Amino acid sequence: MNARIIGTGWCLPAFRADNDYLATLVDTSDEWIRERTGIRARHLAGEETTVSMAAEAAEKALARAGREASEVELLIVATITGGTDTPSAACRVQAQIGAKKAVAFDVNAACSGFLYALHMADAFIKSGMYKNALLIGAESLSRIVDWTDRSTCVLFGDGAGAAYVEASESGGLLAQSVGSSGDKWEVLSCRSRSGANPISGAQPAGYLTMDGQEVFKFAVRTVPRCIGEALEGAGVRADEVKLFLLHQANLRILQAVAKRLEQPEEKFPMNLDECGNTSAASLPILMAQLDEAGTLKRGDLLALSGFGAGLTWGACVLEW
Ligand code: COA
Repeated sequence: MNARIIGTGWCLPAFRADNDYLATLVDTSDEWIRERTGIRARHLAGEETTVSMAAEAAEKALARAGREASEVELLIVATITGGTDTPSAACRVQAQIGAKKAVAFDVNAACSGFLYALHMADAFIKSGMYKNALLIGAESLSRIVDWTDRSTCVLFGDGAGAAYVEASESGGLLAQSVGSSGDKWEVLSCRSRSGANPISGAQPAGYLTMDGQEVFKFAVRTVPRCIGEALEGAGVRADEVKLFLLHQANLRILQAVAKRLEQPEEKFPMNLDECGNTSAASLPILMAQLDEAGTLKRGDLLALSGFGAGLTWGACVLEW
């Protein structure tokens, strides 16, 4: 049995912040941001929260699958911005959508989070423990970036994407390659904002910090490698893959990966121009938008890949 995606959904906050808007906050320009990243705009949460966006995306995924929340057995939210240290965002989404019988928990693997959730769901399904899962990537990164740091705040956005998966005897997840490298954790991190106690005294506020060039090198090296491993595991050639759905971090990273895999850039769909980098949400948002547009057809071979803080990475090959 494999985990097979049956329905998808996505949600972006209403407020669209284009690059010119950001230039009113920090010393930057539309030209710099577009040339270095490919990003034109991102959506920022106002009244929306990670949980409200996750719930909206999840309900759309269930509706597209023709399933009820009450049927969901496993509910995983991939997020680093759940809004509460405890309980998990997943438990709060569970309450909001009424997935009463689900086992609900979060996974913290940053931009690889959705791949990690898919990895776990497939393992639970293969073991026979659960027959279905609702997987959500949801983030409000705008709440953890330093809005005075132009080198990071221009990159990120908010949103949520969801996929409902079921056990299937055919198709679905064919192979995957997932990994972590904790020794590089400081390359991209956000220290907790809590942490003060009577002994430690006040702790500095934590914001997202990043060594951009290290992350760039890591992504360009690791993503083609783990996609290659997943392709090999599935017995699929790169040219047989219809689309490569990658974490939407940066246009130049996607172009470099396409080049290394010797595949045309047209096979790497993008929404980062409108969404920025939404971390764990980026892959499921992209997938759900393509699904909604009718681009994904049953039987298509797809390769998915995520990479980010941890450092973490993952790739899988699936038959839609
Ligand atoms: N607007 C204008 N100038 C900016 C800027 C901004 N938003 N951010 C940085 N700069 C400046 C820097 O201060 C620096 O100026 P200096 O030369 O006077 O010191 C200059 O631009 C170059 O900075 P640098 O950091 O070397 O740029 P870069 O070419 O490495 O591009 C990134 C920066 C972040 C776009 C690039 O490193 C990158 O894409 N990294 C991967 C990031 C990523 O995808 N992270 C998430 C992964 S999950």
